[in-house]
Amino acid sequence: MRIDVLTIFPEMFGVLDVSMLKRARENGLIEFYAHNIREHSVNKHRNTDDYPYGGGAGMVMLAQPIFDCFDYVKSLDGRRARCIYMGPRGRRLDQKFAEELSKEERLIILAGHYEGIDERVMSLIDDEVSIGDYVLTGGELPAMVLIDCVSRFIPGVLGSSESALDESFSGDGLLEYPQYTRPADFRGMLVPEVLLNGNHAEIAKWRREKAIMTTLNNRPDLLEKAELSDKEKAFIEGIKNENIP
Ligand code: ADE
Repeated sequence: MRIDVLTIFPEMFGVLDVSMLKRARENGLIEFYAHNIREHSVNKHRNTDDYPYGGGAGMVMLAQPIFDCFDYVKSLDGRRARCIYMGPRGRRLDQKFAEELSKEERLIILAGHYEGIDERVMSLIDDEVSIGDYVLTGGELPAMVLIDCVSRFIPGVLGSSESALDESFSGDGLLEYPQYTRPADFRGMLVPEVLLNGNHAEIAKWRREKAIMTTLNNRPDLLEKAELSDKEKAFIEGIKNENIP
């Protein structure tokens, strides 16, 4: 997959050059480029923003440098790109949407700043994407979150022993069960006995129960869509009723 980001802070994207994403780039699984919108401003001072029509607080990103930067970036590769604008009004990013985006050959991501962008830029955009119901100072961190999350679904990015499918928000819709590694006794805190006995059926049962309990405690909203047996549903109802005074 090829990913191009349009930003006024390309230097922020150095974080994509460490760890797994670095390896993915070195292995040719992901091509990544950050482009400076400012370089496409025809304005004397290379401005990328101006006051909003109609008044109000803050500045608005100009359409011209963004349109020209888009034209330039599109011309670098003949493949059709899915164009994304990172913004808090957008569709919420989740595992399913990230997996869908990972199937694209090319993504162009616009990271906005100031109070927003000239609305005419939206004519270039296929999807506006939010990473959550809170507002950040710019779209750069959200773009990095999206890139990291999408990359994990590209075959070969995760090691063979890892999987993007067997974890929280995937498959059965439950949060992940707790994990332990050596030693079995760390500062008096013991690894649950069941994980040490090698009985795979018991381990699977324990993990399932823990996943259900964690989901019930931290994200009960997820249980509505989770894949649960009738017995598990009854178990959850029992716990809920116990908690009612
Ligand atoms: N830009 C500012 N806040 C954002 C958010 N929550 N998601 C995506 N882009 C943003």
